[in-house]
Amino acid sequence: MSSKRLPLSDEKMIQLAMDYPTPFHLYDERGIRENAQAFKRAFGWVDGFKNYFAVKACPNPSILKIVREEGFGADCSSLPELIMAQQAGFRGEEIMFTSNDTPPEEFKAASDMGAVLNLDDITHIDALMEVAAMPELISFRYNPGPDRTGNAIIGNPVEAKYGVTTEQLIPAYLKAKELGAKRFALHTMVASNELEGSYIVETARMLFTQALRIWEETQIKIEFINMGGGIGIPYRPEDKAIDLEVVSREIKRLYDEMIASTPLAPLRVVFECGRMVTGPFGYLVSKVRHISEKYKMYVGLDASMANLMRPALYGAYHHITVVGKEDLPKDHLYDVTGSLCENNDKFAIDRQLPLIEKGDVVVIHDTGAHGYAMGFNYNGKLRSAEYLLKEDGSTAMIRRAETVDDYFATLKF
Ligand SMILES: Cc1ncc(COP(=O)(O)O)c(C=O)c1O
Repeated sequence: MSSKRLPLSDEKMIQLAMDYPTPFHLYDERGIRENAQAFKRAFGWVDGFKNYFAVKACPNPSILKIVREEGFGADCSSLPELIMAQQAGFRGEEIMFTSNDTPPEEFKAASDMGAVLNLDDITHIDALMEVAAMPELISFRYNPGPDRTGNAIIGNPVEAKYGVTTEQLIPAYLKAKELGAKRFALHTMVASNELEGSYIVETARMLFTQALRIWEETQIKIEFINMGGGIGIPYRPEDKAIDLEVVSREIKRLYDEMIASTPLAPLRVVFECGRMVTGPFGYLVSKVRHISEKYKMYVGLDASMANLMRPALYGAYHHITVVGKEDLPKDHLYDVTGSLCENNDKFAIDRQLPLIEKGDVVVIHDTGAHGYAMGFNYNGKLRSAEYLLKEDGSTAMIRRAETVDDYFATLKF
């Protein structure tokens, strides 16, 4: 069971929702820092452990600065993300560039920054060479195909557009070496929002196996394996978070068995998780605009799927707290909706909640990753502000809300 608490007392949360125009995302700095520290502690046995925080999960420099201060790197997938990582202070190999279908100018920019290039396809070696020299350190994203099952969100690896296949792996490293690479890394990303610790451990086994195969067949030494992101979070109160201590212990056991006494040791283990770092520490704060009784009961919020797309996109569950009514019986059945002209603009369908009234403050939990970031402007919806709840209890705006002028800024007429 996970607890779905707010980072502030009900009184303070309601006050915040009165002080700042709703909706807005609120991030809990203390929660993010403590979580990052626990992640590092769990993998304390890995010399040089790093989580390259997936910028796409929460692309805000204020958040990136926090995770950088906690010793994380940055995982970027586009030029704007690379620039943002730099602006947040990340330099050189603190940045991994894990892109796909990559434009040449992005290869060039990542290469100029000295980021770790993580190539998604064997043909990307040539694409890279058209715009930059082969870097000293190169990584490939591995797609195991039928050897792994993937999971519901990320899908079956055989169907995935990502990565270098098992057969292509050896030729890819050999070619990179021939072109001047001297240091090598191996990456994968086979799960998303995975709550089964054993799946993560099996990913380590898979990468250790491939690193050994690469060594045996080519004498190329993998310097680190990047396990990707994908560690899940307990979106539902009945979900159980992955026990990182247990996962880490199991990975160490495999490391000792498979790697420790081989020439590959010391082999670093790193991740590029986003969701599990900031996800549980983000809250979408909104107010009830309308209550409607049709064939069902609808609660219309001032937020919409433009602020949080996951429920509409994947039918994802996000817990909802009606602030100040936590202890009332959940004896009303509602669809909780946004204001978009899309009937799937619903944060919850058939959710048991306490009696809701117009003006109530409603908080949607676990929006700290892939929340604001997925926002869009369809229906002329303007993206909300983001606030940071700082460790001293004060709040700071870390992104203003969009205005109508922003909406028109790119138009030529
Ligand atoms: C390549 C890559 N790395 C890391 C991540 C982060 O995943 P998560 O936030 O689920 O940990 C993603 C998410 O889409 C990804 O595509």
